Amino acid sequence: MKPLWFAASLALALSIGASAQAATPDVAVSVDAGKPGAVIERNILGQFSEHLGRGVYEGIWVGPDSRIPNTRGIRNDVVAALKAIKVANVRWPGGCYADEYHWRDGVGKNRPTTTNSSWGGVLESNQFGTHEFMDFVDQIGAEAYVSVNVGSGAPREAAEWLEYMTTDKPSELGKLRTANGREKPFKVAMVGLGNESWGCGGSMTASDYAKEMRQFATFTKNFNPAQKSGPDKMLKIAVGADRDDYGWTETVMQSWSKKIYSWDIDGLSLHSYTWPKKPERATGFDAHQYAELLKSTLWMEELVSKHSAIMDKYDPDKKVGLYVDEWGTWFKVEEGAPGSSLYQQSSQRDAIVAALNLNIFARHADRVKGANIAQTINVLQSMILTDGDKMLLTPTYHVFRMYTAFQDAKVVPLAYDAGTYQEGDIALPRLDAIGAIGKDGKLWLSFTNLDPRQPLKIAPTVAGFTFKGAKGDTLAADDMGAFNTFAAPNRVKPQAAVIKAANGGNGGTGSSASLELPPHSVTVIGLNPVKWGRPT
Ligand code: AHR
Repeated sequence: MKPLWFAASLALALSIGASAQAATPDVAVSVDAGKPGAVIERNILGQFSEHLGRGVYEGIWVGPDSRIPNTRGIRNDVVAALKAIKVANVRWPGGCYADEYHWRDGVGKNRPTTTNSSWGGVLESNQFGTHEFMDFVDQIGAEAYVSVNVGSGAPREAAEWLEYMTTDKPSELGKLRTANGREKPFKVAMVGLGNESWGCGGSMTASDYAKEMRQFATFTKNFNPAQKSGPDKMLKIAVGADRDDYGWTETVMQSWSKKIYSWDIDGLSLHSYTWPKKPERATGFDAHQYAELLKSTLWMEELVSKHSAIMDKYDPDKKVGLYVDEWGTWFKVEEGAPGSSLYQQSSQRDAIVAALNLNIFARHADRVKGANIAQTINVLQSMILTDGDKMLLTPTYHVFRMYTAFQDAKVVPLAYDAGTYQEGDIALPRLDAIGAIGKDGKLWLSFTNLDPRQPLKIAPTVAGFTFKGAKGDTLAADDMGAFNTFAAPNRVKPQAAVIKAANGGNGGTGSSASLELPPHSVTVIGLNPVKWGRPT
């Protein structure tokens, strides 16, 4: 039987306007919509797909002869699902695997079988290579974020890969690409100069890496005429820190501050996963483990703030973005799955983790220009799980869908006293929230109730925005550990918020709203602007 609050959540009531009879809120939130700030880059909703476990093979690639419906070998159900969450970019081929990947193995007709020594020594057929990846991102409407091999490759190999992908001239590499079926240059929106060079990418010190990186940054040239300058110019992302290795950021940024004309970077990465204190599975946890994990994920706020402060020192004009290009939960693999597959379930707790991290990135939109959750399908905190021809959407997927409203939106200031929810020795905020003016002109607000036991009444007051009507979704669940299975794929899914909207907002002095957030839930609502006396 579902608890009472769950039934209430299905009738999530938002009443807006002076006439709203709001019960006394637990938390008052004020939104100053008249002061839009930094743009929340669409790239914060980036994905990461590595040759690992069943992420690429089965998750994306089934081959043209598969009985699973596909387009040129790429499964149609996954493409349709990913299109709906407006994936900004996909980072590929790794991860650790990027630093052992040799691109020539993955083009042309005769592809060698190689060994994936990063992930269990499994055989790699190389059937999914450059052309298939580009086809995949094209089918889902995303951009390509390609990581070149710095660890076991050389600048020449990376330079040639870039030339192969992007030249519009009949050089040997241009002709080879044409012979392999693609005449026009590919668009490579982003290039990663290695991966975790402090670890699996080459065990380098920060200064070793800075030296290598300068060479790779010099020679990874994009030849596509459409990407020479302007908004489509390719972004180069250098390897950044492992969690709180602030010295790494210091060294790479110092090197950048002394750069000369021949090289540059546009971004520096940061990798930080949300680990449980002791190894545990993604499901079957208690309230204390839930609280511990949320506490651990909120560390991201400190990491982003401190790395940003170092970057500010060398780059006060914020030319180099911080790209959190690996983040997400990391649990023990599911029973029966190989350890190297990193295959885990994903529960409502993961959805809360996703919202909290996306909120942190949005609040730091002046510096955080991108983020890639690890990983898209069947690996770590996935959007999608597959089992042969079956597919399900995880709670995290639903958060990503709800957050598409924030892509390219301008963040607005929010003030609230989040209160405290206590679990044993762990104290956490009850509420986490962000707001932004979307590209559609709506004021979008996201509210996460972290507390797994209590619903939370909130009363946002809005200044600087005239609105009428609102629409939104709530992702709630009957249990903090609820998850979707192939037998019950819709146990956790968003419900349309039932909104009682009146004329609201007066564009200057503020107006009020009230809503009740179910326990452990994420709610995103959009307030409709009034233009020329009519709602749009
Ligand atoms: O996402 C799994 C692995 O985690 C990546 O390959 C590596 O970059 C990180 O350590």
